[in-house]
Amino acid sequence: MDTTESARLFERASKVLVEGVSSASRGPAAFGTYPEYMRRAEGAYLWDVDGNRYIDWMLSFGALPLGHAHPRIVEVVRAEVANGTHFATALEVEVEVAEMLVELLPHADKVRFANTGTEAVMACIRLCRGLTGRRKIIKFEGHYHGWYDAVLINTNPQLPTALGHPQDPIRIPDSSGIVPESWRDTHVVPWNDPEALERAMAAHGHDAACVVTEGAMSNMGVIPPKPGFLQHIRELCDRYGALFYLDETVTGFRLAAGGAAELYGVRPDLTSYGKALGQGFPVAAIAGPDHVMEGLEWGKVLHFGSHNAPRLGLYAAKTMLEEMLADGGAGYRRLAEIGERMAERIRAAIRASNKHRAIVQGVGSMFQIFFTDREAIGDYRDFCAHVDRAKFRDFVLALHRQGVFMSPSNTLHSLSCLAHSDADIEATADAVGTVLDAL
Ligand SMILES: Cc1ncc(COP(=O)(O)O)c(C=O)c1O
Repeated sequence: MDTTESARLFERASKVLVEGVSSASRGPAAFGTYPEYMRRAEGAYLWDVDGNRYIDWMLSFGALPLGHAHPRIVEVVRAEVANGTHFATALEVEVEVAEMLVELLPHADKVRFANTGTEAVMACIRLCRGLTGRRKIIKFEGHYHGWYDAVLINTNPQLPTALGHPQDPIRIPDSSGIVPESWRDTHVVPWNDPEALERAMAAHGHDAACVVTEGAMSNMGVIPPKPGFLQHIRELCDRYGALFYLDETVTGFRLAAGGAAELYGVRPDLTSYGKALGQGFPVAAIAGPDHVMEGLEWGKVLHFGSHNAPRLGLYAAKTMLEEMLADGGAGYRRLAEIGERMAERIRAAIRASNKHRAIVQGVGSMFQIFFTDREAIGDYRDFCAHVDRAKFRDFVLALHRQGVFMSPSNTLHSLSCLAHSDADIEATADAVGTVLDAL
């Protein structure tokens, strides 16, 4: 496959863009080399500047449940852009989408729209602190909640020796420029470990504003919660008067219409959404019951934003939800089926090649491949100690040459969309087999 134009663009890009891109996961920090520069997309496919076609399993990090350039999304956005891009005023479509969300989310009486997952997290953390008058946050190892200072600790894989004892994890900020004061009150606990959480709550629970968790761990590959673990968080939050904040940026409007909360049958006090909600546009939302959301009223806990509730994105969100919910939510069932089939076909390709020890973990439409001797990867510490990330990157870069696009970062994950066909699944499984044989 010829990627000369991408290489040329990378040379130009490196002179004017940091690392030649606008987010580290898109460029050499993740690829180890120049990335393919993409020009166009439709359905399940991306085309790069050299004209190569890729089956896309990265899908804007989960933002495209319907796939690229879905005809109804194109139609509604084309029609609405002619009526103006953004007004920063009250909008009818904002009311319509909020009504849909309140209908879909049993824990939610009210919604507030923002733009990105990170912004929504920032607002939620401030809201939890403002409502409870408490400072501490309990977060889990390996959970990423955006690049906000208070939660950007222990989100990157480390050498197992750097992690400390699971009873007292060493807290590691993931960036320079984060002052210790910003994460001083953030306490880090191993995930999927009920006893560790009990101990942490005994030590900090009475001062904790919230326990924040991903619904299914999506930033160390894909790691599902152990049965009952999310319920355990609920019980401990009730016992200690902390808020249960479920960060559904990845899982919301993807694992089910009601996200991980619906899939795992748990009732959080507060949720935030992003990614899938906007169907490719930056739309984020915060949702919760009246007694929580009223904290934002009249600026008691302040949340502003010139671009909040972006109108074109809200039309896309409304259309995406209509499509996914048609026929009694058939879209969500199909999305999960495609993801589970793809995961199963990759498992079969690994068995058939019989050359590498690898497993595939997934939840519905999300899956990830781990090169590991383990039967399963159960948490961040497993991931750090037992997953060969360098091999994964080589594997994915070779897949790109076969016309299959995934993120080379093993901490991320692959995703299905409704545009993936049976032929795409089979072509991907064949490419995986070819690459595994050659690797
Ligand atoms: C669980 C989770 N929360 C928050 C974020 C931040 O979202 P954004 O990239 O839209 O700021 C992400 C992004 O990957 C995420 O995975």
